[in-house]
Amino acid sequence: MTALTLSTAAAPGLRADAIVIGVAKGAASTSGGLVVAPGAEAVDKAYDGKLAGVLETLGASGAEGEVTKLPAPAGFKAPLVVAVGLGAEPEDAKDGAYDGEALRRAAGVAARALAGSKKAAFALPLGDAGDVGAVAEGVLLGAYAFDVYKGNGDNTQDKKKKNGKAPLAEAALLGGKPRDKEHKAAIERATAVSEELNRARDLINTPPNDLTPESFAAIASAAAKEHGIKVQVLDEKALAKGGYGGILGVGSGSAAGPRLVKLTYTSSKAAKHLAFVGKGITYDSGGISLKPAGHNETMKCDMSGAAAVFAAVVAAARIGLDVNVTGWLALAENMPSGSAVRPGDVLRMYSGKTVEVLNTDAEGRLVLADALWAASQEEPDAIVDVATLTGAMVLALGNRTFGVMANDDAFRSAIVEAAEEVGEASWPMPLPEHLRKGMDSPTADLANMGERMGGGLVAGLFLREFVGEGVTWAHIDIAGPAFNEGGPFGYTPKGGTGSGVRTLVRLAELTASGDLG
Ligand code: BES
Ligand code: MN
Ligand code: ZN
Repeated sequence: MTALTLSTAAAPGLRADAIVIGVAKGAASTSGGLVVAPGAEAVDKAYDGKLAGVLETLGASGAEGEVTKLPAPAGFKAPLVVAVGLGAEPEDAKDGAYDGEALRRAAGVAARALAGSKKAAFALPLGDAGDVGAVAEGVLLGAYAFDVYKGNGDNTQDKKKKNGKAPLAEAALLGGKPRDKEHKAAIERATAVSEELNRARDLINTPPNDLTPESFAAIASAAAKEHGIKVQVLDEKALAKGGYGGILGVGSGSAAGPRLVKLTYTSSKAAKHLAFVGKGITYDSGGISLKPAGHNETMKCDMSGAAAVFAAVVAAARIGLDVNVTGWLALAENMPSGSAVRPGDVLRMYSGKTVEVLNTDAEGRLVLADALWAASQEEPDAIVDVATLTGAMVLALGNRTFGVMANDDAFRSAIVEAAEEVGEASWPMPLPEHLRKGMDSPTADLANMGERMGGGLVAGLFLREFVGEGVTWAHIDIAGPAFNEGGPFGYTPKGGTGSGVRTLVRLAELTASGDLG
């Protein structure tokens, strides 16, 4: 990962491959034209204060995602200036009050544009420690590359032999204060969150022939131990003994058996306990209700919820939050075979309820049901599950927004607000009672499918059946934003995105500080 430093150095004397500056579309109250954002004063001065004009001549507009490269002015040690668009200039830009998400995205775009470089200096507006954290996250997340499987076929894993350019190695945040407690804490937090989020991306991008429930559990165990988190792994035998019919049923068609991983992070100063539950289908073929070609190529991403939970628990531990967090990873591979669960089978779930499996492709809710019930037994203050659960949620909200459902309206709002704070797009969704009867089964307590219309909400209603009485619960459906099939944007790469991680970490922080629940 990119090495980050806070630097008080002046831009001209800085030894680096490039200096990154911000440009914006000027607010109407000022010029209306292109403006150079605060932080780049020394660079602008070296262009005789005419940098905005120079950039406009080069076609720059300040639009989000825009990158304009120009030679550095005479006397600068760095050869290149990279101007990155911040979007519209805020009305109060004089105070350096750029939106954190605009900074995060711009830093990400610049970091991506600088792949192959050794060192870049970021001279972006840093109004407060929050901005330092946002730029740091943008750099670390934007510089991400997944190239483990690329190279010259010789398995050397030598970066020089990779096809792509190596990620930006070093970033100095100019204007950051290396001795300021808040600035240092912001860098530490951004580093912990981004490293774990990038690890979640690695897991998501790892092909399903290499990432099985067993190997995922092993990776989670090793990382958890490294950070003082307690780990328990239930394998097939233990799951059978415990009566986890949902996880076992979904995993029964695969040669790679299912696992339930429990990660326990405890703080001696904790007053509250949060449980995070993640859907971890390492590959979703649909099972006997097989997905058609065109719908299965990206289904290695179906463990993105479990990856997010894993990342969030480790990040909470690394930051040392004063809250107890339990992570549950419900891991299975959904495959068709002679031993696979069939449409028509009835599973006895961990909660004791029976479920008629009408469609084996509605498998996520089955593994989550067992994990939700297990999580409920500890009576945490709240449970949040994260899952690539339904195509219906993608139809409803598109590829960049996750849906949030809950058995408590205030909790649902708190999650949407937390997501907004960290720059994740989300939207509250209802759990309409009338959709519940569509899951009535003539044979079992309920079926794993209901009405097609509102399929994302039906799935939420199914999960609600497996949340313990009186436990506050929310469900985050990340089926849209979990995996980016389009080109990279902002700090979001192609492939696994790490959707949900930052919202979960924020929830843990808010719970630790007593600002939630
Ligand atoms: N993993 C899929 C949902 C999904 C779809 C995730 C697209 C990411 C992108 C899930 O297991 C699934 O297949 N859901 C079915 C449920 C249906 C059979 C009730 C769906 O949404 O079609
Ligand atoms: Mn499925
Ligand atoms: Zn699935």
